Amino acid sequence: MPADNNVMEKLVSLAKRRGFVFQSSEIYGGLGSVWDYGPLGVELKKNLKERWWRSMVHEREDIEGLDAAILMHPKVWEASGHIAGFTDPLVDCKHCKNRFRADDPRIKGTPGEPDAQCPVCGSRGTLTAPRLFNLMFKTFMGPVEEQAAVVYLRPETAQGIYVNYLNVLQASRQKIPFGIAQVGKAFRNEITPGNFTFRTREFEQMEMQFFVKPGTDGEWFEFWKAQRMEWHYGLGIRREKLRFHQHTKEELAHYAKDAYDLEYEFPFGWHEFEGVHNRSDFDLSRHQQFSGKKLEYLDPATKERFIPYVVETSVGADRTALVVMCDAYREETVEGETRVVMGFNPAIAPLKAAVFPLVNKDGMPELARRIFDDLRRHFNVFYDDSGSIGRRYRRQDEAGTPYGITVDGQSVGDGTVTVRDRDTLLQERVAGDRLVSHLGDKLKM
Ligand code: GAP
Repeated sequence: MPADNNVMEKLVSLAKRRGFVFQSSEIYGGLGSVWDYGPLGVELKKNLKERWWRSMVHEREDIEGLDAAILMHPKVWEASGHIAGFTDPLVDCKHCKNRFRADDPRIKGTPGEPDAQCPVCGSRGTLTAPRLFNLMFKTFMGPVEEQAAVVYLRPETAQGIYVNYLNVLQASRQKIPFGIAQVGKAFRNEITPGNFTFRTREFEQMEMQFFVKPGTDGEWFEFWKAQRMEWHYGLGIRREKLRFHQHTKEELAHYAKDAYDLEYEFPFGWHEFEGVHNRSDFDLSRHQQFSGKKLEYLDPATKERFIPYVVETSVGADRTALVVMCDAYREETVEGETRVVMGFNPAIAPLKAAVFPLVNKDGMPELARRIFDDLRRHFNVFYDDSGSIGRRYRRQDEAGTPYGITVDGQSVGDGTVTVRDRDTLLQERVAGDRLVSHLGDKLKM
C-alpha cells in the first residue's frame, strides 16, 4: 500500500508551506484527522464546489438546489438505517487501549484469540473480539444531557434531501424525473482515519439525489455514471488515473441495489472518491414508514402513484481537492534547477495570476499596482514584489498559479507586460489594458 509515501510527505509539506491545508488546532498538538484549509486551499475547494454546483444545478433544468441543516430529527437516522447499520467492527487492545478496525492489515492473528498481536504495543492476546461501533457523532440538544435529547451530526447530506423531497417537488413544480443537489458538511467518527485529508472526521460532500420512476433507474444509473466521469475528466485529472469499481454484494451499503465507486490512483493506491448509487426506494419508503407521511408521487399523465427510486451521486469536496492536488503535483528540472509545480487546470487554480514589478523603482511598482487593481475586480490574483523574479515565479509554481505577469522597463514605456505560462514557461507580450480579456479567454475551461 505505501506505494509512494514520499510524494505524500512532500505534498503535505507543500500544502502547509503554501497555505493549502493546516492541521486543526495545531498549536495544541492537533486534533486527529481534522484539517483546516488555508488561503489557497479554501479557494481551491470553493472553485471545485462552484464548478460542481454550476454543472449540477445551474446547467440543468431538472435539478434544484437545497441547503438542509446538519442537525436533524433523530428519527431520520433510525429510518435511514444509520443507527442500526452504520457501524464498523472494531477491536480494542486491553493493554495499550488503542482501538483498530477489525480488518486492519497490521493486526497479526485473530482478534479475541491468544495468538493476536497488537500492532501498536506488540502485546499478545490482549485484543478483544470485534465489536460493532457506530460512526455517528452524538450530541445533546437543549440544556439537558439525557437520552431523549440526543441528536446526531449528519454522516451524509443525502437524508436532508429525502426529508425535503416533497417540499422541493411542490415548491419547484418539477416532475419526475428530477433531482435535488446539496453541498454540505458531514461527520463520521472514523476509527482508522489517515492519509492526510483522504479520510477525515469532518468533511464536505457534494451530493445529488435523482428521483426516477421505478424501472427507469437502470438507465439513469448509467447516465449519471457517465456524466460524473466526464466531470472529473473536465477537471483535467489524468484519465489513466481514474477508473470505476463496481461494488460486490459484500461491499454494497445497506441501502444500495447497485453501486459504483469512482476511484483515483493516489500515491497510496487506488481509492474511491465518488460513489454512484442506485438506492432504489429504500430511503423514501423508510421515511414514509417512520414518519407516517405519504411520500408517494402522483404521475400527472398516467395518474399512477409510486414511491420514486433514487440514483445518487455522492462525491467528497475534500477528497476531490486531494485528488486534484495529488494529480497536479510534479517536480521537474528547468535550466538545471528542480522546480515543484502544482499543475492545476487554470479554471480551478486558487490564484489565476500573479503580478510582479521586475524591480521596485522606475515607475514599475505603480504600473504593476494599477494592473493588479484592475485584474482583482475580475479574478483572484496576487501581488508580489519581494525577492528575485525567479524566486517569485517558483513560489507561484508551487501555488499552481497559471500566469505570471511581469511589469518591466518596456512596460513603463509602451504599456505592455509579459505573461508567463506556468507549464510551457513561454512568455508573451500583451497590452496591459487587454489583460482582462486575455486571461478571461484562457480561463474559460
Ligand atoms: N450518501 C452516500 C454516501 O455518503 P459514501 O460512499 O459513504 O456515500 C461518499 O461517501 C463520498 O464522501 C466518498 O466517496 C468520499 O469522497 C466522501 N467521504 C466519505 N467519508 C469520508 C471521510 N471520512 N473523509 C473524507 N471524505 C469522505
